[in-house]
Amino acid sequence: MTEEKELSYKEAIEKAGSAITRFPVIKIQDVPLMSHIAYNWDSIWAFRPDPSDLLIATYPKAGTTWTQEIVDLLLHNGDADACKRAPTPVRSPFLEICSPPPIPSGLDLLKKMDPPRLIKTHLPFKLVPPAFWENKCKAIYVARNAKDNLVSYYYFDLMNKTQPEPGPFAGYIHKFMTGELSWGSWYDHVKGYWMEREKKNILYLFYEDMKENPRREVERIMRYLDLSLSDEVISQIVELTSFKNMKDNPMANYSCIPSPVFDQSISPFMRKGEVGDWKNHFSPEQTKIFDEDYEKQMKDVNIPFRSLI
Ligand code: A3P
Repeated sequence: MTEEKELSYKEAIEKAGSAITRFPVIKIQDVPLMSHIAYNWDSIWAFRPDPSDLLIATYPKAGTTWTQEIVDLLLHNGDADACKRAPTPVRSPFLEICSPPPIPSGLDLLKKMDPPRLIKTHLPFKLVPPAFWENKCKAIYVARNAKDNLVSYYYFDLMNKTQPEPGPFAGYIHKFMTGELSWGSWYDHVKGYWMEREKKNILYLFYEDMKENPRREVERIMRYLDLSLSDEVISQIVELTSFKNMKDNPMANYSCIPSPVFDQSISPFMRKGEVGDWKNHFSPEQTKIFDEDYEKQMKDVNIPFRSLI
């Protein structure tokens, strides 16, 4: 069953063949989104989750896959085999993703699943289908410091052949600062969920905290989900979701997506998994410009990001 599902997902991508291309972005409420998402926007906005569904929301490359794996393991009491039943995007569909047929969209996959479902989104808060909040769904948001997030996104855009060309790194920094990348402004994204976290009961996590003390953050998620797992199971989940173990896990490392879409020979999906890699990429001049702009864009909030300097 699992194998069939995985194969059909892979096959669908292979079959899409030449329809796979670096899609342009189209703005929805001023947020640039991959064109196929924009064409299907009405059905995405109208999506009605079950109250038991859980949303994992992030700006791209902030630690989504890591969090999806942790949550899936928590929901399966640390059962590694159960969490190898299918690759991440099948176990935990990507709400808004739409690609050329016959690749199933996020909504197609969700329709075939019974709640409670683990739903991934990169949509900024204002574009999350309102039924999530009407139905009081739980939601986990993961934020990552801007410069590491940018570097990770840059490598991802090099290898993901459905995203716009990243171009040279210097220009990419500019596009990040001006909110021109797919899914829009990082600044608006992290702020949007931050402002709503209390009203909407959103668990707001930081990638850097997860790196610093994964056990503490796994336990935080566990409590938020009203679960109570043994110390031993928690240790097992921390181990199974280490960078190295996830990199070696074909059900978590995105090897399910064939190379015409994710060319992992350019950059692996599980690339470095570190805090502070931006220091290997930003010049002192770029850092200065970025930090000055950051101060301006973030002056209205006090989100406790780390490793900015
Ligand atoms: P890098 O490119 O910096 O290595 P997303 O899942 O949101 O696309 O995020 C991908 C980023 O999270 C990549 O960052 C990836 O390596 C990192 N990542 C994935 N799993 C991880 C884990 N278990 N521990 C630490 N980082 C992880």
